[in-house]
Amino acid sequence: MAPPPPSGANSAVARDIANVLHPYTDLQAHQQAGPVVISRGKGVRVWDENGKEYIESVAGLWCAALGFDNERLVQAAANQMRKLPFYHAFTAKSHEPMIDLAEMLIQRAPLPMSKVFFANSGSEANDSAIKMVWYLNNALGRPQKKKIIGRLKGYHGITIGSASLTGLPANHRSFDVPLPGFIHTMTPHFYHGALPGESEAEFATRCADELEKLILAEGPDTVAAMWAEPIMGAGGVILPPEGYFPKIKAVLKKYDVLLVADEVICGFWRTGNYWGTQTLNVEPDIITCAKALSSSFLPISAVMVNDRVFQALADESHKIGTFGHGFTYSGHPVPAAVAIETLKIYDEMKIGDHVRAVGPYMQAALQRRFADHELVGEVRGTGLIAAVELVADKAAHKNFDPSAKVGGRLARLCEEHGVIARTVMGDVLCFSPPLVISQQEIDEMLDRVGKALDELTVQLRREQIAVVR
Ligand SMILES: Cc1ncc(COP(=O)(O)O)c(C=O)c1O
Repeated sequence: MAPPPPSGANSAVARDIANVLHPYTDLQAHQQAGPVVISRGKGVRVWDENGKEYIESVAGLWCAALGFDNERLVQAAANQMRKLPFYHAFTAKSHEPMIDLAEMLIQRAPLPMSKVFFANSGSEANDSAIKMVWYLNNALGRPQKKKIIGRLKGYHGITIGSASLTGLPANHRSFDVPLPGFIHTMTPHFYHGALPGESEAEFATRCADELEKLILAEGPDTVAAMWAEPIMGAGGVILPPEGYFPKIKAVLKKYDVLLVADEVICGFWRTGNYWGTQTLNVEPDIITCAKALSSSFLPISAVMVNDRVFQALADESHKIGTFGHGFTYSGHPVPAAVAIETLKIYDEMKIGDHVRAVGPYMQAALQRRFADHELVGEVRGTGLIAAVELVADKAAHKNFDPSAKVGGRLARLCEEHGVIARTVMGDVLCFSPPLVISQQEIDEMLDRVGKALDELTVQLRREQIAVVR
């Protein structure tokens, strides 16, 4: 529902307009439209300041895995604040929450990993890993091997390095990124990218061939690493074609290029396995994670490195005298304590078994309800991550003209019907609900989304915005 007009200079809406610079918002339009002020949450639901209830279909920003209340996490934070509210990790200082969490992550890693570095956000984790890759190649005596490959439509964050890795125009335009040395290879999306008659396996081979061509064109001795989300999230929930990652890995291995898995969305059971790398058969040298690590109750992220990477970092730091990188809040004891409790809760409640039960239920329900809808081109996903992509022309896989702002309209209609929805890339409606969602809540969420989609269909017909069936 559209927020009510500011009812006075002291309303939350008016004070927001007066004082807040919002991320990912048309700042000028916001001066008139104002915010939706969310006041409280419970389970998969949040309520705005007027008492209107919404189901959060993307767990906030793909992150509130345990939903919007959890007393154990509250207690973990409070207990840690009483015991040791802050300590840092610089110059070999340490504390138990950071040590315990690092050990838990190493134990749960999908491949043998050696050490864990902590930061506060997905962007910081990726920026830290970029700097580690550069540092490593200096340590190995190949200072020219520094270029980093991202993928078009990949999302890795918004700090200068991670935004350079990101392959989305809105994160580059007018910000003067990507920095030199960041290059992008093709998006592995079969629905849009496949040639006529091409099989998924052939498409995956072509993606790997394109990567090899790019590395050869740049010069293999200048290319250091490639970054990949197991499933691209913000680019539109794009699952790679069958066999994609082993083919990509073979190319990277040939030219001694590291593979970094960005598990910021996919980690911690989102895809039905503990890690997206397990679902998609990725073999990374470095893993970054965040979001569900603490169920987003407090900010924390991590970079896990394998032994080869660690040994190079150790050698170089010994030569220089220090590993000159780290944040005041790297491994902060309070978010670390919350993350430890979060991982314990995932284990104890067997959240993976739950995702493996409700995930296929959600995927089947999305297919049954929306795949044949006249506005829908593709329904895709796995586990509890999915997308419904709207198209103007089903046969040609053609999206709506961006000027029609179809995705934004759908998100607003979803809100009117009680679902906070996220549309990306124009017309892709994403689903990434809290992992604790039940089948009944999935049905309720999709009933509401269905109503919004039907209403959008009526509006588009009325406005004669073309839909080719
Ligand atoms: C895959 C991925 N990597 C990195 C990030 C950046 O994380 P943050 O917003 O915590 O900096 C995101 C955020 O959505 C993400 O989806």
